[in-house]
Amino acid sequence: MNTEVIFEDGAHRWLVLGRDRERREDVIDTNQYAILTSDGTLLIDPGGIEIFPRMLSELMRFVPIDDIKVLFGSHQDPDIISSLSMWLDLCPQARFYTSWMWKSFVAHFRIGSVLEAEEIPDEGMSIPIGHDVSVEAIPAHYCHSSGNFSIWDDRAKILFSGDLGAALLPDRNAPLFVDDFDDHIKYMEAFHRRWMPANRPLRSWVRRVRALEPAMICPQHGSIFRGENVSRFLDWLENLDVEVGEGYDVDQQA
Ligand SMILES: [Fe+2]
Ligand SMILES: [Fe+2]
Repeated sequence: MNTEVIFEDGAHRWLVLGRDRERREDVIDTNQYAILTSDGTLLIDPGGIEIFPRMLSELMRFVPIDDIKVLFGSHQDPDIISSLSMWLDLCPQARFYTSWMWKSFVAHFRIGSVLEAEEIPDEGMSIPIGHDVSVEAIPAHYCHSSGNFSIWDDRAKILFSGDLGAALLPDRNAPLFVDDFDDHIKYMEAFHRRWMPANRPLRSWVRRVRALEPAMICPQHGSIFRGENVSRFLDWLENLDVEVGEGYDVDQQA
């Protein structure tokens, strides 16, 4: 697994862990993010059981295990959070935040005895990492999960967007940052048209995110948007019609 530092201001750093060369071909590629502060570390969508050993050894190059204070699950999918029980076993000091909707569902990922979750209400909330630093859980419901949150870090001006902006890239050496946006669309379009259920939640999320003026938008699959590609991505998403589906016609159901 590879790690890149994508933001650094004193002790406040963003890491992206991904582009995992040891990943099996049948496992979808994922980006994991960590926000390091002087007072604790937040792990954003720490990933599946499959990648846990490599995530752990890679992360330990940057922070001691005791430093992990918060875990966040944007939604309930296995590629997001099926490693939860393993992290909580190793980091009993950590608090785990996810939508109120998924608290009792992710409890099925329990292996040991401890799996507590802090519920995020529909309207979102502030999530403290340490005494002085917090991030915001921004509603992203129905994008694609019905209980779903993005993470906004106002200091770094970085938005973690979960499955929004996800791209299924053809090779594991693909660039970390989107280079040619128009060319990148072909890796995003089919995913959004099938995984995103409706247009209205997408438009609403775009409005909320535009007002934040992010410097970067970081998806859980694919490449990161920065500079002019942030607004290009938001414009593209705002005009995308996902309600026609992709590869599956609901009117043809038996
Ligand atoms: Fe998902
Ligand atoms: Fe995903």
